[in-house]
Amino acid sequence: MRIALDGPAGAGKSTVAKAIAKELDILYLDTGAMYRAVALYMLEHDIPLEDEDAVRAALPQTRLRVAYENGAQAVYLGERNVSTAIRENHVSAAASAYSALPCVREFLVAMQRQTAQKNDCILDGRDIGTCVLPDAEFKFYLTADASARAKRRQKDLEAKGQSVPFEQLLEEIRKRDYDDSHRAVSPLKQAEDAVLVDSTHMTADEVIAWILSRIKGA
Ligand code: DC
Repeated sequence: MRIALDGPAGAGKSTVAKAIAKELDILYLDTGAMYRAVALYMLEHDIPLEDEDAVRAALPQTRLRVAYENGAQAVYLGERNVSTAIRENHVSAAASAYSALPCVREFLVAMQRQTAQKNDCILDGRDIGTCVLPDAEFKFYLTADASARAKRRQKDLEAKGQSVPFEQLLEEIRKRDYDDSHRAVSPLKQAEDAVLVDSTHMTADEVIAWILSRIKGA
């Protein structure tokens, strides 16, 4: 079984995907974490967005790898676990920017498809239903108002001890929505056969229960 869960930044995809993977005992792959890890590598090695040849050449050198430790996903660059570093706020914007490069997408989509071939899984991202797994058995598109998403992001960051003003987060989310949905290659878009879930007025538990009922009732 393969489940595609797409949607804009901060819609709660990872919380929902994790819970569904646990309930159905299938693998969860957070594809955004892979784009974040590539962006972190490019930032740390001063490889500019504008130099696509250099980015392409660097991709195999990232030695990007996804591992599962005690049931949780960890992302490595070589021997270094970057699971925490990729969550920094500045990496979010860089991930969105580098993810627009075709060479980055080809590299990561190939890895994602390999994982999905070998396992029952749920993948979350922006282009899972439209590009990575067009034949997925279930496709959901999870969204919420930009201000609801900015509020949730602020709470998540506060829980990690980072304080960022609401207006700044709202602006960042709007910019990412725009960039992710206007890029030329595999833009963020609801697949025609995906079920829309608007979580603006729903709790995470309600979204999880609703999606599970769709899957189990099918
Ligand atoms: O889901 P996230 O916020 O961790 O994703 C970070 C960025 O990576 C997002 O702004 C766009 C990009 N991304 C993508 O282009 N395609 C995916 N399947 C997942 C993420």
